[in-house]
Amino acid sequence: MSKINNNTVLSGVQPSGDLHIGNYLGAIKNFVNMQNNYNCFFCIVDLHAITVKQDPKILKRNTLEVAATYIASGIDPKNSVIFNQSSVSAHSELAWVFNCVTRMGWLNRMTQFKDKAGKDKENASSGLFIYPNLMAADILVYKATHVPVGDDQKQHLELTRDIAQKFNRDFNCEDFFPIPEPIIDKNISRIMSLKDGSQKMSKSDLSEYSRISLLDESDEIIKKIKKAKTADSVMPGKIEEVQKLAEVNNLLNIYSGFSEIEKYKLVEQYEGQNFSKLKSDLSDVLVERLNPITTEVKKLMQDIGYLSEILLDGQNKANQVAQKTINDVYDIVGLHRNEA
Ligand code: TRP
Repeated sequence: MSKINNNTVLSGVQPSGDLHIGNYLGAIKNFVNMQNNYNCFFCIVDLHAITVKQDPKILKRNTLEVAATYIASGIDPKNSVIFNQSSVSAHSELAWVFNCVTRMGWLNRMTQFKDKAGKDKENASSGLFIYPNLMAADILVYKATHVPVGDDQKQHLELTRDIAQKFNRDFNCEDFFPIPEPIIDKNISRIMSLKDGSQKMSKSDLSEYSRISLLDESDEIIKKIKKAKTADSVMPGKIEEVQKLAEVNNLLNIYSGFSEIEKYKLVEQYEGQNFSKLKSDLSDVLVERLNPITTEVKKLMQDIGYLSEILLDGQNKANQVAQKTINDVYDIVGLHRNEA
């Protein structure tokens, strides 16, 4: 299918457990919007997932579930390339080259490693440390120009740009890798916990009430929104005032993300009211938008054969592009290739 421009998008989601509305608003929803305008590669980053411990059986299932979620959310496998990272070996191969380009000092500055490794840094996998190099390889192996990501991935994108620049410079191949642009919507790419507006919504949060999973049934959605923290006041009239109420602000970001109603309009609509009407309206919107996705994911998960076909087709299409890049990279770097 021909696209209005020749730019390439790549993004990825980890198959590391239940996807929630933060993953949807921060990533998948934008993927759907981009697919008609860009050449799109949407990856399920299983190699990133194993940087922390995974149950092998559950990992396989989660990989299929992310594929099902992509499709159920409206990514058209005929229009975009959907595949799992480990099925295209050029990702790992390019990541190794980048391990030799990236400086230790650059990786030492990555805040996500510090957050994820926590206090027990010595016991973190070395894969977790070099995770950003693999992410750079995911992007650059397709020479992607645009990368829709959540706000938390901004630093990794900056590192990707640094790697691309250093590679081009070190090997005297100006413009070989493009310098990719992040596409980040600040408001909706940082969906916070429903219980604590200072914490990101996360699948690792112990409380189920902190997040809305993409597989939640309507009654669970309603219950969770009802219990969500708000504030001991009424809705202020100004956005700047709302921003000081982290939990209320977060509910409005979610509302706006799912309804496409601009936030300031929502503030006007609920100004001076307590938060119960906002909550019940928000539940309605969530149920209406999520129900079709949830139903479709469950249906697709009954047809593993179909999902495997999609992933195999994606693998073949991705390989065609990625193989060309890695061949060129090996040549540029000076790795000997035996001719058949
Ligand atoms: N690190 C990203 C995350 O956790 C996932 C990811 C891996 C990714 N490779 C990518 C995102 C390439 C964008 C592009 O959200």
